[in-house]
Amino acid sequence: MIKVGEFKVGAEEKEAINEVLESGKISEGEKVREFEKMFAKYIGTKGAVAVSSGTSALIAGLEAVKIKFKVRPKGKVVTTPLTYIATSNAIVLTGLEPIYVDIDKDTFCITPDNIKDHLEEVDDVAEYVMILPVHLMGYPCDMDKITKIARDYGLLVFEDSAQAHGTIYNGKKTGSLSLLADFSFYIAHNIQAGELGAITTNEIELIKLVKKIKANGRLCDCPVCLRSEGKCPKLLSYKGEDDFDPRFTHELIGYNFKTMEFQAALALVQLKKADWIKEKRSKIVKHLNEELEQFSDLLQLPKYDKNVSYMAYPLVNKQPEKISRKKLRIHLEKLGIETRPLFGCIPTQQPAYSHLHDVYENKLPNAEFAGRNGFYIGCHQYLTNEDVEYIVKCFKKIIKNEMQ
Ligand SMILES: Cc1ncc(COP(=O)(O)O)c(C=O)c1O
Repeated sequence: MIKVGEFKVGAEEKEAINEVLESGKISEGEKVREFEKMFAKYIGTKGAVAVSSGTSALIAGLEAVKIKFKVRPKGKVVTTPLTYIATSNAIVLTGLEPIYVDIDKDTFCITPDNIKDHLEEVDDVAEYVMILPVHLMGYPCDMDKITKIARDYGLLVFEDSAQAHGTIYNGKKTGSLSLLADFSFYIAHNIQAGELGAITTNEIELIKLVKKIKANGRLCDCPVCLRSEGKCPKLLSYKGEDDFDPRFTHELIGYNFKTMEFQAALALVQLKKADWIKEKRSKIVKHLNEELEQFSDLLQLPKYDKNVSYMAYPLVNKQPEKISRKKLRIHLEKLGIETRPLFGCIPTQQPAYSHLHDVYENKLPNAEFAGRNGFYIGCHQYLTNEDVEYIVKCFKKIIKNEMQ
């Protein structure tokens, strides 16, 4: 089976896990701290906070922004309709309202023009609080223009970079291009650790807030507790004699989004291989594009850009009347090539958002088309040359048989 994503447990991964087991400490500790430091360095931000998943990164990040910027309840967030559903869910679950604008059909990113046109048309722009672009499949959104629009309209920007570890935009990595960003290290993503997420930001206050929110709002956010040494930065008069314990003093209503040492240890191993992972994926995308170019009247191939860190190899069936996506996917799966749909257009194609169907129907043509006809296959670093040739052979076979 040629999977969308694969995780190979080699000697380094085993050693990392054993180190955690031997340390006797499996809940958040030194490995998590080390991962946060290394990931912030890799992305190019002042800090990073590890959480249990990309979804919890989105929720904790939005909660932190709400507190720091006193965001109004039910504030509107301009975002993409074409993404993994966690992006929209986090907006709704934090009491904000997603407002969808259409995407660019080649990069799947929301466009500055669509954002601007929308903001120019609305009755009360004061209801809007944020733009939340998603760098889908690794493609960076046009952050310079998005930042300018946000500035013009007094909005915050939060990047969802869950699928774009290592993508470069104008010389900087995605995840460092706005107020804050979330990442996911889920198994099918560019850097993997099973289940893990992170927030990256240059704002120290947001780092502190996310650390509290992910630990049930506890007062304490020190990396290591100093109370046994008779010190506590949260109570300067503390001498180790009184009953004060900031770990069980809660100043916010938060969540448990803490992670474990195992995930951080695995992510650290992957992080060392990040450049290799990006390059391998990039080469596979380039090669597949060259080989499948002959079918480009039928399939929209992924735009190639060496700066993109590809999460997968996305395709859009351009002529569904000739062959359906369903048929293409069934053929590929039967030949052992795993496929996944390109998420669906959230407000018109996802049952959980059916209450928005009539509001958005026919208003998001590119997202609806990609959501209905888009799918992706793997281009991950463990694919061999033979695997890649096999993929090409399968496409040739399926298209030839279907088109005759
Ligand atoms: C764009 C995007 N945002 C958020 C998430 C949520 O991440 P997780 O699955 O780690 O909760 C994902 C996961 O695939 C994603 O693709």
